[in-house]
Amino acid sequence: MPSPTGPDPYELANQAAQAIRERFGIDGIDVSFTLGSGWAAASDDLGEEIGSCPLGDLPGFSAPVVIGHGGLLRIVRTASGKTAAVLTGRTHYYEGRGVAPVVHGVRTAIAAGATTVVLTNGCGGLKLDRPAGTVVLMRDHINLTGANPLVGARFIDMTEGYSKRLRDLARTVDPGLPEGVYAQFHGPSFETPSEVLMAGVLGADLVGMSTGLETIAARELGAEVLGLSLVTNLAAGISPTPLHHEEVLEAGAAAAPRLRSLLAGIAAAL
Ligand code: HPA
Repeated sequence: MPSPTGPDPYELANQAAQAIRERFGIDGIDVSFTLGSGWAAASDDLGEEIGSCPLGDLPGFSAPVVIGHGGLLRIVRTASGKTAAVLTGRTHYYEGRGVAPVVHGVRTAIAAGATTVVLTNGCGGLKLDRPAGTVVLMRDHINLTGANPLVGARFIDMTEGYSKRLRDLARTVDPGLPEGVYAQFHGPSFETPSEVLMAGVLGADLVGMSTGLETIAARELGAEVLGLSLVTNLAAGISPTPLHHEEVLEAGAAAAPRLRSLLAGIAAAL
């Protein structure tokens, strides 16, 4: 569908998918992993590398702007023989480029054949018994960005935005994984304590600045979504101290060994 604000995002995703097939000499991909804050280290253990390139080399992608958010596409063969696209970084809505670039990675992966989309993030936690370092399976999200990647009468069902089947599969790798509801804020300022309280009243256990919009785009195109959140800090007002981006990075680094083995296990089980 032509868009008044730029190139057709679905056509752009088709072009990026074609560029991936040609560049890596593959027929397509089966699954994609988007690695958010703290998760990038997991990229090394997902499978045998077929090749990699800067995401910015592909149609419609731009270089990442946040320290700690990588910007590579790696194509790997998983232990179960699946071809996986690993995106070590994402475009965030707070970058102000609009919503289409935010979901371009997911749309590209699905245009290249992915039927499973694994989205990871670092987030603030609302529960004292789930401190920094806790990994939570996303059961649902609350989109507080005011934006939506879908334009026009695309009334897609979001009853099971995050696949129950994939959550069960993740628990075959780690039976102790809890579930939670993620509230996506616009950012880039962290939430105020009152906004965190509001998110809790609305039913959220986690607050962050990504993932929900990508899930909407993936569900429109029929892919199953697995959402994994790393609690990098207790959310503002729950935490006794002010929040810093460095704290988010440190929590990711501390959790790296656990994230690596968890995601490797999931990749092998998919
Ligand atoms: N809020 C929003 N996004 C985040 C947080 C947070 O507390 N921590 C890491 N990403």
